[in-house]
Amino acid sequence: MAERPYTLLSCGMSLDGYLDSATDQRLCLSNDADFDRVDAVRAACDAILVGAATVRNDNPRLLVRSAARQADRVARGLPPSPVKVTVTGRAKLDPGADFFTAGDTRKLVYCASGTFEEACDRLGPVATVVDAGQPVDMHRVSEDLYDRGVRRLMVEGGGTVHTQFLTGDLADELHLVVAPFFVGDSRAPRFVSDGSFPWNPDRRATLAEVRKIGDVVLLRYALSARFGKD
Ligand SMILES: NC(=O)c1ccc[n+]([C@@H]2O[C@H](COP(=O)([O-])OP(=O)(O)OC[C@H]3O[C@@H](n4cnc5c(N)ncnc54)[C@H](OP(=O)(O)O)[C@@H]3O)[C@@H](O)[C@H]2O)c1
Repeated sequence: MAERPYTLLSCGMSLDGYLDSATDQRLCLSNDADFDRVDAVRAACDAILVGAATVRNDNPRLLVRSAARQADRVARGLPPSPVKVTVTGRAKLDPGADFFTAGDTRKLVYCASGTFEEACDRLGPVATVVDAGQPVDMHRVSEDLYDRGVRRLMVEGGGTVHTQFLTGDLADELHLVVAPFFVGDSRAPRFVSDGSFPWNPDRRATLAEVRKIGDVVLLRYALSARFGKD
């Protein structure tokens, strides 16, 4: 079997399981202490992956923020921040987005075969574009990342991407932060959509840690035998 990186899924959600509001305004589900925890997790990874909708909607920089953590990475011979990775079928991404322009780190775009040429034209100057098949298969993405030297991958959403990593049994660890409020609008994106998940009433995931971080709670789940050995 081809190898894949140790994969950690991370997200914040409301009490009713939403990743965002249904409006254009970005919803803050975290707090400063938790942002700092996420920064430390990022700094310990080789690559961070988000879906194309998150790149378009949130315009994230996906960089390690702490100067000390950046310096520590550089001292270990690494770039200041992990490689940035996204996945797209339509290739409608803006090369001026912060994902592409912020930080001196490598950017990878896994693109469906049908739009590969369009993606190369638009994003080739700012990223490495990879033809990832039709449709893009996350197993293939994971294995390609491993071949490119990624040993520890952090997946930061959104729900479409989390769903595929979970249903594809490609996740080793889940960090779920629960914010103390409800969204209450089913038009908003959820943590996961429908699917056949390896963890169900007959195969329960292992709850490895519960941590109160100010007014949010971190639930850390071990999802594979690799957890704790990495
Ligand atoms: N609370 C949190 O921790 C958190 C974290 C991240 C994001 N979010 C929120 O989540 C929302 C976005 O989530 P989402 O589920 O709508 O989208 P998403 O997972 O960020 O991205 C989905 C997009 O990724 C591309 N994609 C995913 N899988 C693919 C595949 N197998 N083949 C080809 N393309 C694929 C497609 O892009 P194309 O459309 O370009 O084809 C698809 O539309 C945003 O509102 C964001 O704010 C919240």
